[in-house]
Amino acid sequence: MPTTSVFGAQWGDEGKGKLIDRMARDADVIVRYQGGANAGHTVVVGGEKYVLHLIPSGILHPGKLNVIGNGVAVDPLKFLEEIEGLRKRGLHVDGTGLKLSSSAHVIFEHHRLIDQLSERWRGEGRIGTTGRGIGPCYADKAARTGLRVSDLLDNDYCRSRLRAALAEKNALIEKVHGEAPLDLEGQLDRYTALAERLRPFVCDTGALVRKAYKAGKRILFEGAQGAMLDIDAGTYPFVTSSNTGANGIPAGALFPARHIERVIGIAKAYCTRVGEGPFPSEQLNEIGERIRKQGNEYGSTTGRPRRCGWFDAVAVRYALEISGADGWIVTNLDVLSGFETVQVATRYKSGGGERRDWPADLPRFAGLEPVFQSFPGWSEDITQVRKYAELPASARAYVEALEREVGAPILMLSVGPERDQVIDRGL
Ligand code: IMP
Repeated sequence: MPTTSVFGAQWGDEGKGKLIDRMARDADVIVRYQGGANAGHTVVVGGEKYVLHLIPSGILHPGKLNVIGNGVAVDPLKFLEEIEGLRKRGLHVDGTGLKLSSSAHVIFEHHRLIDQLSERWRGEGRIGTTGRGIGPCYADKAARTGLRVSDLLDNDYCRSRLRAALAEKNALIEKVHGEAPLDLEGQLDRYTALAERLRPFVCDTGALVRKAYKAGKRILFEGAQGAMLDIDAGTYPFVTSSNTGANGIPAGALFPARHIERVIGIAKAYCTRVGEGPFPSEQLNEIGERIRKQGNEYGSTTGRPRRCGWFDAVAVRYALEISGADGWIVTNLDVLSGFETVQVATRYKSGGGERRDWPADLPRFAGLEPVFQSFPGWSEDITQVRKYAELPASARAYVEALEREVGAPILMLSVGPERDQVIDRGL
């Protein structure tokens, strides 16, 4: 396997966990490079469901090196909780198979609290964040007031930096939001104690991954969220606070862009979004409800019902283009079984004209309407199909329409939650 980037090509929840878990079989090193515990990667193995938030999906394969890079926002509590959860289920997780970057920024209690208070403050203008402190942590990183994992390990330094940061955050919590401030000493004690439990996992992961590359190891970069939630390319301000596509790898893993040899996007056969913001192909009707029900479309991190709609070829085309994807994978094709017709947004209507390209100013694009193309549906259960030729003819016609509209080869189809429920088309 060449050095590979796998990323979400919609608004997150594309089923990356399952595919990355599958591809991890052929990798030596699996690297997360952005986001944090806002992600929820679901993997089903032998009927057992695992939901991973922070730890790379490669952890379910023994003997792999799993890396949380410097670009990830790490909540030490969630990190340790997730390790404990995996251990309780019989998995061996230690500092040999799991590494945490010393340069990753730390999410503290005040980040989580401010994330939630800011959302309340925004009222109607809220983003619909996961409330995990992601935005405030990245904001502090950019403002150069954040603390990194290595800072946490240096007790005296950590205390003085955290003391200074909390003094300011407490003023914000109390004076702007009218809430009780956090107990300074309690926070200092909590995080310095957690630091000791992190220590066995911490190293310079950038150096580690570059060395692995030089030694010929097979590296898989695991994107979280989706391209349309990318802070630069997505539907700003309704985005997450990191670069979610292959473009996030060089900075988020300190790995050279020119060594990324293969780039693969992942998209559902329809489309979902959690939180607020533009979603042109959304179906606020019984179709959307039916997709939600058939696809069990509820957030794996927050449990929120996901907004549902038809596949948007304009958005996926754009997402694959930005990351320079070689091809893509379609997930949840089985969820569409039973629809009499299925639709694809192939272009947008705006101001009397039509466009096939993604409008960078979408949030301000009042009156934009997707133009749908309809295709005959299929009624068969396709969850046991493993060969492309054995899919119903109308399902194949739909897949080929997606491929044509998006303009990039579909390398695999996923037809169920289990590892082996896939149809390989050249991945
Ligand atoms: P944040 O990342 O918690 O700040 O949330 C910002 C936006 O990204 C919100 O609309 C969230 O619902 C969305 N988001 C964050 N993580 C995920 C994810 O893993 N899947 C889908 N949406 C996400």
